[in-house]
Amino acid sequence: IMKNTVTTFQAMKDKGEKISMLTAYDYSTAKLEDAAGINGILVGDSLGNVVLGYDTTIPVTVEDMIHHGAAVARGAKNSLVVVDMPFLSYQTSVYDAVVNAGKIMKETQCDCVKLEGGKSVCPQIKAITDASIPVMAHLGLTPQSVNAFGGFKVQGKTVEAAQQLIEDAKAVEEAGAFAVVLECVPAKLARKVTEALHIPTIGIGAGEGCDGQFLVYADMLSMFSDFTPKFVRSFANVGEIMSQAFKDYDAAVKDSSFPAQEHTFKIADEVLDKLYYCWINKSDIFDLKIVLVWDARACLKNHSSNLHTPICGIFCLHSVAVAHYAALIQ
Ligand code: KIV
Repeated sequence: IMKNTVTTFQAMKDKGEKISMLTAYDYSTAKLEDAAGINGILVGDSLGNVVLGYDTTIPVTVEDMIHHGAAVARGAKNSLVVVDMPFLSYQTSVYDAVVNAGKIMKETQCDCVKLEGGKSVCPQIKAITDASIPVMAHLGLTPQSVNAFGGFKVQGKTVEAAQQLIEDAKAVEEAGAFAVVLECVPAKLARKVTEALHIPTIGIGAGEGCDGQFLVYADMLSMFSDFTPKFVRSFANVGEIMSQAFKDYDAAVKDSSFPAQEHTFKIADEVLDKLYYCWINKSDIFDLKIVLVWDARACLKNHSSNLHTPICGIFCLHSVAVAHYAALIQ
């Protein structure tokens, strides 16, 4: 398998091959997605909802994105790794946008960044692209604008909004974006946008007319239960499997069926015997100083463990501790 790059994505659109994308926020998930042949992995700011438990993506910081982005980049060898620019890391100025995109790319070693918006962020898209950092654009339901939208709603339903979406899509392509995400856009409109653009469109809730598809991995595995958008298909009920496994583990711990013999590590009986000797002598060391007592061989059994190494110890003949020990082992 070859490393997916921005040119791979363009070639796939040009050949009419569909592009698969999923989100991931950690190393292990990224490794699994990468091995499954997923073309692109987005470290989405949806980590605010899925991983950090916020209601929106608004509180997510550049540091959050870097922390998770770097973990994903370490796990993804072939997938294109895209890291989201979080709220207010690029809207404030072109300068901020380039600095933050550069920081994200340097510190995560991702392949590109994604940001939300159309015409209004085109200067940022151009400047970041000019700095050789590829940009994925994001139109339609852009969750960082939830407060401006007045909720999470399908976008582009009126003539004006549909026209605006097409214009924004052309504008981000013109500004240098290598791909554009269309989120919660009517399927027929998304198909029109896809046909109008040279660069690939990746749809999430935008129908099969897009060049590729996105899903939040925790949604498609039914692991995230706060809400499930209409466009999600559950590919496996991993949430249910996890929940059952947690219950089984809890029961196994409580009835002592876990851990079993095969989950434990061994220690030589002789070491334990010596430890036991130190223990009853209230001594930190196994004292080899005084007298060899070769006949002090014994099967040492006590209430907590079965020790059966012959004891060939060296004991002080006159000590109370030895008398105590001798009594115990005889
Ligand atoms: O943050 C995110 O996960 C996203 C995708 C779902 C497109 O932006």
